[in-house]
Amino acid sequence: MLTLADWHCIQPAMNNHKPIRKAVFPVAGLGTRFLPATKAIPKELLPIVDRPLIQYAVDEAREAGIEQMIFVTGRGKTAIVEHFDKAFELETTMEERGKDLSVLDPTRATPGDIITVRQQVPLGLGHAIWCARAIVGDEPFAILLPDEMMVGEPGCMAQMVNAYNEVGGNLISVLEVPHDEVSSYGVIDPGESRGALTEVKGLVEKPAVKDAPSNKIVSGRYILQPEVMRTLETQGKGAGGEIQLTDAMARMIGNQPFNAVTFEGRRFDCGSKLGFVEATLGLAMEREDMGEEVRAMARRLLGD
Ligand code: UTP
Repeated sequence: MLTLADWHCIQPAMNNHKPIRKAVFPVAGLGTRFLPATKAIPKELLPIVDRPLIQYAVDEAREAGIEQMIFVTGRGKTAIVEHFDKAFELETTMEERGKDLSVLDPTRATPGDIITVRQQVPLGLGHAIWCARAIVGDEPFAILLPDEMMVGEPGCMAQMVNAYNEVGGNLISVLEVPHDEVSSYGVIDPGESRGALTEVKGLVEKPAVKDAPSNKIVSGRYILQPEVMRTLETQGKGAGGEIQLTDAMARMIGNQPFNAVTFEGRRFDCGSKLGFVEATLGLAMEREDMGEEVRAMARRLLGD
C-alpha cells in the first residue's frame, strides 16, 4: 500500500499552483433515505462505529493539509457545528471523573477554522456549493461529500492534492465499477491517461449501460477552480429538479483543464442504507480494538 511519503517520492517537483487551503462540506441535504433516523439528527452525524460521517471527511481533509473547513448547513443541522466545538461541561465532568479526554481530540478545531454558511432551501448540491462562494473567494478549493466514505492510505483527498500539485486545474476523483453498474452514477468520458490521471472530456449523469462512455464513476471528492462559482450562478435545474454540480462542471470542460484521479482505495456509499451497513461492518471488522470480536460475532450470526 502506498504511504504519503511514497506519494511525495514519485511526484515531480511541486509546480506553482495555488495551494488547496479550503474545503467545502455540503451538509444541508434532507437525508430522506434515512428517515425516520434523520428527522431530528443530521445524516452527517450518523456514526460509523464511533465517529460520525462528518468526522471521517474532516479527518481526510486535514490529512491532505487543508486548514479551513466550510460547512454548508441548513435548518436542523447545528449539531454538526457543535460536534467540532469545545464542550466545557463534558470536558470538566470527564476530567473530574478521571476519564481519558483524548477521545475528543479529533473534534478539536483551531478557532476560526470551521466556518458555516447556510443554504436556506436545499436546491441541490450545485446550489449548496455556490452558497460558499464568498468564503471560497478567488482560490481553488476542495469539496468532500461526507456521505461518501473514502477509505485509503493515503486518504482520497491527499491523493488528489498530490495530483493537483502536479497538474493543477480541476480534478474529480473516480473509481472503476463493473460496466453493468454505471447507470446509478455520474460517469466520465475519458481522454488520455497517465498513471492515476485521466483527462476528462465530458461527464454524463446516470447513463444507460449501452451509452456509458466508461466505467469510471465520479465519487464525492473534487478540487475545483473558483470559476465554478460563476458557472453555478447561471446553472439551471437538472436531474431531480436540483441545481447539479455535475452540470456546471460539464459546462466548464473545454474552457478549463479537467482531469480525473483514479482513487486507490475503497468507497462506501453511506447515503444509502446498504452502503452504511457495509461501511459499519467493514470498518468494525478491521479495527484493532474490536475486529476479532466483530468477525466472530458475524460468524455466529451467520450460524457458522
Ligand atoms: P445527497 O443527495 O446524497 O443527500 O447529497 P440528501 O439529499 O441529503 O439525501 P437523500 O437523497 O434525501 O437521502 C449529497 C450531499 O450533498 C448535500 C447533502 O447534505 C449530502 O452531504 N446536499 C444535497 C446539500 O448540502 N444541499 C442540497 O440541496 C442537496
